[in-house]
Amino acid sequence: LDNGLARTPPMGWMSGQRFRCNVDCKNYPDDCISETLVKSTADMMVKRGYVKAGYKYVAVDDCWLAMKRDKSGNIQPDPLRFPSGIKALADYVHAKGLKLGLYLSAGNLTCMGYPGSLGHYDSDMATLASWGVDMLKLDWCNSDPNKLNNEFEEAGRALNKTGRPILYTTTWPLGQKTKGIQPDLTLVAKYCNTYRVYQDLEDGWESLEALVKYYGDNGRSFVNDSGPGNWNDPDQLLVGDFGLSTEQQKMQMALWCIMSAPLFVSADVRRMRPESQAILLNPLAIAINQDPLGIMGVQIVVKGQVKIWKKAITPKGSFALVLVYTNISGGPSRVSVLLSDIGFTTAAAYNFTNVFDGTHIGVYKPWHTFNCEVDPTGVLFVQAAALP
Ligand code: DGJ
Repeated sequence: LDNGLARTPPMGWMSGQRFRCNVDCKNYPDDCISETLVKSTADMMVKRGYVKAGYKYVAVDDCWLAMKRDKSGNIQPDPLRFPSGIKALADYVHAKGLKLGLYLSAGNLTCMGYPGSLGHYDSDMATLASWGVDMLKLDWCNSDPNKLNNEFEEAGRALNKTGRPILYTTTWPLGQKTKGIQPDLTLVAKYCNTYRVYQDLEDGWESLEALVKYYGDNGRSFVNDSGPGNWNDPDQLLVGDFGLSTEQQKMQMALWCIMSAPLFVSADVRRMRPESQAILLNPLAIAINQDPLGIMGVQIVVKGQVKIWKKAITPKGSFALVLVYTNISGGPSRVSVLLSDIGFTTAAAYNFTNVFDGTHIGVYKPWHTFNCEVDPTGVLFVQAAALP
């Protein structure tokens, strides 16, 4: 979508994966979907350096709405969990240098049963804009799957009419695929800023492994419809949650960076292990994700048991590589690859840096063979900077 937003993949925090639809603030005052959660997260995003690193949006997924619209038919937040109202919340996060995101659904109800926006796009988007909201996640639950193209286009037009720049993120093609309809991604990319095609990522290795396989096998088909203004979204980051080992968390971060994916942390940034926080805040990883060329990297070759993913980055002729080993046991896998075989013919030499530990790996020429080991369910994430 050419609305001037998301010229690089958007970055932020989203409540969905980690905090789900916990609306019980009586028993879980810190973790329920509420203004307290948003504010304390925003505070921590500043304090722990997320904002400085580029994470700008703080977004509430499903379950922020009141069960009913107000007397005039307008959407309203749950009065007990958002007692100060959304305008005050937007002011709060803006004062921290952050932007506020909210969730709606293009159906009769949201996935969790809150009021849907079908037939209310003009008024709902005007309400978001009047509150100072900066991002919308529009979901597809409880809608007519055959009409999703119209619904999401119409909602996008309503957002545009508000005159406020609002990042438009969707699960539009996922809704179509779930119902057996082949999405037209070129159309989708024209009307929204980010879009999901694959099912929800759950907090565990099996789910990540399946997603990595899906994008490994199919990633090329999204490359033309992913770029500045419109990004393919493989879903929220689980880094800092419960189900992935540290190596597996690095795998998710590395692949999201190489795919130029939106980076939405869905973890408790208020209580995070230092090693997970370091993965999320790694400046070189983020620079690769945010590279101005905006090219979506893909899996290019399978070498023995290791899959090699590659993305072209700046400066001209440079690449980022992720070597992925998804086996669980058997120790590290050794790989040898002749660099000219994987397209390292754009420069006279390349300076290889290990993204996660910052160490210098070496200087390689196109006719050199690169040898390395990749840990089980782990990655080697390399920046290969072109040397003149
Ligand atoms: C389905 C979406 O795919 C998820 O990301 C999340 O937004 C839930 N709906 C919320 O109900």
